[in-house]
Amino acid sequence: MKALQITGYGDIQKNLRFNAIEKPKVKSDEVLIEVYAAAINPVDYKIVEGALKQIRKLKFPSGTGFDVAGIVVETGDAVTGLNIGDKVYSRVPTDAPGTFAEYVSVVADAVSIKPANLSFEEAAGLPLVGLTSMQAFETGAFKKGDKVLIHAGSGGIGSFAIQYAKSQGAFVYTTTSTKNVNWVKELGADKVINYKKQDYLGIVRDADLVFDTLGGHYTEDAFKVIKEGGHVVSIAGILDKVTAKNFGLNGIIRFILALKRLPVTIAMKRKSAHYKFIFVHPDGKQLDALRDLVEAGKIKPVIDKIYDFSEAIDAYHYQKSGHAKGKVILKMK
Ligand SMILES: NC(=O)c1ccc[n+]([C@@H]2O[C@H](COP(=O)([O-])OP(=O)(O)OC[C@H]3O[C@@H](n4cnc5c(N)ncnc54)[C@H](OP(=O)(O)O)[C@@H]3O)[C@@H](O)[C@H]2O)c1
Repeated sequence: MKALQITGYGDIQKNLRFNAIEKPKVKSDEVLIEVYAAAINPVDYKIVEGALKQIRKLKFPSGTGFDVAGIVVETGDAVTGLNIGDKVYSRVPTDAPGTFAEYVSVVADAVSIKPANLSFEEAAGLPLVGLTSMQAFETGAFKKGDKVLIHAGSGGIGSFAIQYAKSQGAFVYTTTSTKNVNWVKELGADKVINYKKQDYLGIVRDADLVFDTLGGHYTEDAFKVIKEGGHVVSIAGILDKVTAKNFGLNGIIRFILALKRLPVTIAMKRKSAHYKFIFVHPDGKQLDALRDLVEAGKIKPVIDKIYDFSEAIDAYHYQKSGHAKGKVILKMK
């Protein structure tokens, strides 16, 4: 079968190649999915560039891609609840062979029936951003009526998270640039802040939760806008102490991280607040809940561009530009 593979760490143009490889064999707890569509996420180019090699070192050539929508064509002996012919979607586990391929084998627990009202391309863009947002809100002890700041409302994560937050009864602040203000408002955000013209630090007050999708100085600044005892959940900022340990980072790296994290730690203590970095994990049950929200019309996929599988490397470059408006999709069939 045809698969896009990572051949080494570094420049994405030089280290991604289409190869003809063997179709994966299913283990007893896995299903084989014929891939109809997949979605690119920033993590895909970050992995090629080596940004995650301290957490997970690749053996080359290595598969790539985490989001998939397709049809089950084979099931392992121990699989119950999924059958050949099911139309499914998944954010596959980190050690799965990669979804930018004609077929991918995935542990059945990470797979769910896709929303019936969506095409494969639309469904493929939901699992990673959906699970990340849902897990961030859980971590941030979100409850109905909370005031939430979601940075980068026009991105893959932000365009999902705004809709999810509204479906759960939040008051939503979000940031975006001039060209995106109107359509981001249409996603349901209560207050859209144009970061090119306005300073959100002077607008957002007493947020219960900041969903930090930008990292850098945005992580520390989040504590200026949360209420006492509030939560900052980051997916792009510095690792918290527990997460760094769980990732298996060595003592020296954890010590350096603790020093770098000091401004965040001080800001957090001043507000008696909470800080957590999360890394999304696969969860078929959570995808069932997401399907219900989509089929009820509460969340709509936001697709920026659809690329043919043969143009996958161009899609990586576009995702890396940092200005995608929603999701970047690969169409395989
Ligand atoms: N830890 C995890 O498990 C996890 C999971 C998913 C994603 N992530 C990370 O989360 C980050 C966001 O992911 P994504 O998929 O949403 O990325 P994305 O789709 O590439 O985000 C692009 C969007 O960010 C907006 N943006 C850029 N700079 C901004 C700023 N200063 N203020 C407000 N908006 C800004 C852009 O809007 P304009 O064009 O208007 O500037 C664009 O629409 C990435 O770093 C990704 O790696 C982590």
